[in-house]
Amino acid sequence: MSFSRRLFLQSAAALSVLPKLAWASGQDLVAQTAMQQIAPDGFPETPIWSYGGGVPGAEIRLSQSARLRRKLVNDLPQPTTVHWHGIRIDNAMDGVPGLTQDVVAPGEAFQYDFVVPDAGTYWYHAHNRSVEQVARGLYGPLIVEESEAPDVDHDLTLMLDDWRLDPETAKIVDDFDNGHDQSHAGRLGNLVSVNGRFDPTYPVARGDRLRLRLINASNARIYDLALDGLAGWIVALDGMPLEMPLAIEDGFPLAPAQRADLVVDVLADPSAVASLVSREREGGFGLARFPVSGKAGKARQSGITPLPPNPLPKLVLDGAPLHRMVLQGGAMRWLESAQLGETRLSGRELAQLGRFWALNGYADRPQEPFLNTPLGSVHRIEFVNETAFPHAMHLHGHHFRLVLPDGSLGPWRDTVLVERGQTRQIALVADNPGSWLLHCHMLGHAASGMMSWFRVT
Ligand code: C2O
Ligand code: CU
Repeated sequence: MSFSRRLFLQSAAALSVLPKLAWASGQDLVAQTAMQQIAPDGFPETPIWSYGGGVPGAEIRLSQSARLRRKLVNDLPQPTTVHWHGIRIDNAMDGVPGLTQDVVAPGEAFQYDFVVPDAGTYWYHAHNRSVEQVARGLYGPLIVEESEAPDVDHDLTLMLDDWRLDPETAKIVDDFDNGHDQSHAGRLGNLVSVNGRFDPTYPVARGDRLRLRLINASNARIYDLALDGLAGWIVALDGMPLEMPLAIEDGFPLAPAQRADLVVDVLADPSAVASLVSREREGGFGLARFPVSGKAGKARQSGITPLPPNPLPKLVLDGAPLHRMVLQGGAMRWLESAQLGETRLSGRELAQLGRFWALNGYADRPQEPFLNTPLGSVHRIEFVNETAFPHAMHLHGHHFRLVLPDGSLGPWRDTVLVERGQTRQIALVADNPGSWLLHCHMLGHAASGMMSWFRVT
């Protein structure tokens, strides 16, 4: 027997109780093993790695400009670190082993302590052997509240993940370094969860206005999302407010690590069920369901106002140097050769070492940074995807703007999806000093070559 979505959909019909995300062990973030019912009821619980005993880890919520302090305590059999994805953070707190800190060995601890400059939807996740550690459940939401939040009836965080579970035991299949996955689309699962649960339900009332904070914590899955019985706008991407909210007319993509904040109204009739839908080639299926009850109390004006802007730098392109980053390798376009450390190796030798990809000819984080820049300068980076697969390119410590084909500036993001064969340009103000990673957020791709860095001094 195998995990079929239809089967899951049916077996989950009776599901009504949500996993409680509350977790109270003070200000420690304990990385520990745990058991969780991820597959539908009737299947066994899944052994996971977690922050504090459940996946996702407890939602960290604080107000803009507040200070976040969490002591990571490593109770796992493997060294780990925490990366605070999308936070324009103090470099020493960025959680990158070998670049910003040492790994935290089993039994040891590390104090994270930083200020969150921007309101919005972020997340935290393990950044050591993330191809394994994130797949095992080491992630959680990090929500920074606006001083004036939009008026909504429910503010819901929905963290999407796909798991590769053994269909009999519901155990995570531990083939994290599988060369086939790494040289193709990455590790894709056979069960999609929202907030660590298959097909959860969130009761709403007709006419309710919801803020949905979508976070893609999957290793490699790109979702094509749509709404059923809900209508509204995308108001922020990767944490950053859109100047003009974007009406959701059709579907929208959410690549690994990306976030989208939606403000939507419940249009479905009472006793109907609205849903967040994942569109697939063979049709759509619901990821999360919103059973609708009678009329909401509160009458609201239709329409939407943008979220208040974050204190992002002013980005003026004039004369900003352009740096090309060529993405190469993977199945069907195998590397001819690339640099690994000091040596140049053939594609075959690299494959034997589990390296399938290269960024500008390097099959691992190079000795020298891709870009070495003084503080405050503006740069354009052009991602040239010569591979046969899409990649989700992520910069640490900075948000950037997409440079659209007509030269105008698109939304602020921290992760950009570059489709196969596509070239996409971004621009950033290098305004955060330190050494910052730049990598593909398909975690198996990062582990097998798509890793670079830049330095701001
Ligand atoms: Cu969310 Cu370097 O990662
Ligand atoms: Cu990739």
